Amino acid sequence: MSCCDCGPIEAFADGRCHVVRAGRRQIGIARWGDRLYAINNVCAHQRGPLCRGPVLSTVTAAAPGAMDLHAEAPVIACPWHGWEFDLRTGRAVSDPRYRVRTFPVRVEAGRVLVELDPTTARGRGK
Ligand code: FES
Repeated sequence: MSCCDCGPIEAFADGRCHVVRAGRRQIGIARWGDRLYAINNVCAHQRGPLCRGPVLSTVTAAAPGAMDLHAEAPVIACPWHGWEFDLRTGRAVSDPRYRVRTFPVRVEAGRVLVELDPTTARGRGK
């Protein structure tokens, strides 16, 4: 595993996804309260710029007119056609067969670190 230093935690505003370069990849770092998520900036639908979309709570409707917000399960919505992807797993909400790659991310000494496998660090692989 190699690690990519993406900058100080203060540079990542809450509720937004920031695109950073990691090797030859673009990875979105989404801050959601005290949690961070890292996801590839390529949509699994038609390769749109996923991380330019908004970060949102998951919304479910158990019955007509009864909507629930699930802040513990944030999604990112692709700006091209609106597909939403669970930031925890990278899976599409509407069809979990579609998945965007996610990466382990953590804060250490105030710096945001993303773990990349050796293939990613060289800019290859998927
Ligand atoms: S390219 Fe992302 S929803 Fe279509």
